[in-house]
Amino acid sequence: MKTMGKHTIDEYFKGGPAVVESAPGRVNLLGEHTDYNDGFVLPTATPQRTQVGLDFSPDDFCHLYSSTLDETIDFSLSGSAPPGFGRYIEGCIRLFGERGIRVPPLTVFVSSDVPMGAGLSSSAALEVAMLRALCRLLDTELDDVSIAMLAQQAESRYANVHCGIMDQMAASLADSDHMLFLDTRTLEMRLLPLPPGSELAVIDCGVARTLATSKYNERRAECEEAARLLGVAALRDVTDIAVVESLPQPYLQRARHVVSENQRVLQASQGVSAEEFGELMNDSHASLRNDYEVSIKPLDHLTALLREQDDVFGARLTGAGFGGACVALCRQGQAHAVAEATLARYNTDGVTGGLHGRILLPEF
Ligand code: GLA
Repeated sequence: MKTMGKHTIDEYFKGGPAVVESAPGRVNLLGEHTDYNDGFVLPTATPQRTQVGLDFSPDDFCHLYSSTLDETIDFSLSGSAPPGFGRYIEGCIRLFGERGIRVPPLTVFVSSDVPMGAGLSSSAALEVAMLRALCRLLDTELDDVSIAMLAQQAESRYANVHCGIMDQMAASLADSDHMLFLDTRTLEMRLLPLPPGSELAVIDCGVARTLATSKYNERRAECEEAARLLGVAALRDVTDIAVVESLPQPYLQRARHVVSENQRVLQASQGVSAEEFGELMNDSHASLRNDYEVSIKPLDHLTALLREQDDVFGARLTGAGFGGACVALCRQGQAHAVAEATLARYNTDGVTGGLHGRILLPEF
């Protein structure tokens, strides 16, 4: 990887790329660690997006440039795998190849204002934007669900995170004015309004999700074992929460989180008040902290500070955990003020030992 001094898309392609596509990141509002258990999720799309400009390469190499990272990667489709963000791009290209669509060497420009390492799925945004651009460049029709499924494969096979389908479905099908209710088993989905009189604040706690990958795959394996011990195909099939009490630890805790989290999503998707939705978010955070053990002190502290604000209905970590961001449901019109007041306290109260958070939503 080398740097070349920041370029705009027009400078990079001299005359413009053949196609430009984009996709958003996501903020999950409820339904954490349920998607790989065939359960229910409730994400929304970020207003921030990742943009991919694409054209055919003038030579035998793929030439990638990220203006966000100011990094270039050159690689051959017949050579070894590219590093960094190149893995996602390569994954998308190879998955097209597996569908019998020959992809020639490409020139790829990436720029993004989706925050990275904050649990807002910047990788899903990149995969979906890249697949959309490939479809247009190669005149191929793929519907939004197929794009999400290919993007998930790019993530699990080429970036080695055995994720569920939530992030890619959100990047492909959600918008930032709604919540996307998704049944990850049947892929039944509905766009729902936020609870009346509410809006979102999202704050990064300042700890990047470095450990996420290993623990993520470990949690997933624990859930599979819990389902096996209970004799069900997936934890989604457990609806009576009392059933999980027969499990040994840590399976009892892991399953109790998943089963209760599914119930919270189903309840929230019935159309509850902002106050009730906020309570469900608080309960979700407690369950992620106590039973699923994916929270960390800075996330607990940040959500506690958010909850102390009068205009906050509820707050929780969002994404896989182990770092990243918190989301709060705020009284409409108050999210900016809530985020600023909370961040000022978080950054100066000394509790997290000099960590610095940042406001990711609402954008400034
Ligand atoms: C990551 C994964 C998702 C989901 C969440 C946790 O974002 O990519 O599939 O499992 O963690 O809810």
